[in-house]
Amino acid sequence: MDIVIIGSGNVAAVLGRKFKAAGHKILQVVGRNASAASALAYELDTESANYMTLLNKNADVYIIAVSDDAIEKVITELELPGKVVVHTAAAVSKDILKNVTEHYGVFYPLQSLRKETSSLPDIPVFFEGNDEVAQKKLETLANSISSQTSTSTGDEYRLKLHVAAVFVSNFTNHLYALAESYCKKEGLDFRHLLPLIEETALRTRTTLPSQSQTGPAIRHDTETIEKHLELLKEHPRLKNIYTLLTESIQQSI
Ligand SMILES: NC(=O)c1ccc[n+]([C@@H]2O[C@H](COP(=O)([O-])OP(=O)(O)OC[C@H]3O[C@@H](n4cnc5c(N)ncnc54)[C@H](OP(=O)(O)O)[C@@H]3O)[C@@H](O)[C@H]2O)c1
Repeated sequence: MDIVIIGSGNVAAVLGRKFKAAGHKILQVVGRNASAASALAYELDTESANYMTLLNKNADVYIIAVSDDAIEKVITELELPGKVVVHTAAAVSKDILKNVTEHYGVFYPLQSLRKETSSLPDIPVFFEGNDEVAQKKLETLANSISSQTSTSTGDEYRLKLHVAAVFVSNFTNHLYALAESYCKKEGLDFRHLLPLIEETALRTRTTLPSQSQTGPAIRHDTETIEKHLELLKEHPRLKNIYTLLTESIQQSI
């Protein structure tokens, strides 16, 4: 397929690489940041533009991979009759695109994507077209880059998935970042924790998280918890989070 990518951030870069690796032709990368758009275009062996007025109108599919809040602004005055146009946001209705074309939808990669990544991970894709034309094209495109594709059933379904994704990825990573900062302040090496991080994540493949909780909270080791909280007096933000999560673990039994 011939594809135009609008945006030059994380999703634009990783999906662009996936499309290229699958044999699709990227006709253009359009981004307001001229240097990021041209760097991505160079990597994808195509041309770039930094104004929507210069948009190439010859593609089969247009992927709008900009920040959620920017989608509305980017599509102002955009008209692509006959083309399939999608955005990549889980939390934005597909209908935001209804004045752009008669064939529109969402192409949501359920993965944490960073343009700096050196590998191309398998990315579960949830796609949904508003009509058969969009649905068929998106299905073909999704299957060409992913072994885990699903038709998502409506905006609310994707939004709910997104909430769950924030818990398992964004919040978890934030906890890693807090531990990293704590280790730095206390003179500990964060890398000692990497095997633990990996084991905890890998275990979810075989055991439900609700069945595999360990640690002082689930054991009700009150004295240990008190010692931890005493140490965390120097780190009030961490102390609050520790207390909140300890209570949550104990309530969920
Ligand atoms: N990253 C993920 O893991 C992930 C996964 C699934 C879905 N998504 C969705 O994919 C979309 C893009 O996410 P991302 O992670 O790729 O974001 P990102 O790396 O922050 O890139 C955002 C892109 O949007 C552009 N942009 C921001 N505001 C704009 C505006 N007002 N006008 C024009 N362009 C604007 C940025 O341009 P500048 O560089 O000039 O700021 C950049 O090209 C979002 O809807 C997000 O919800 C992300």
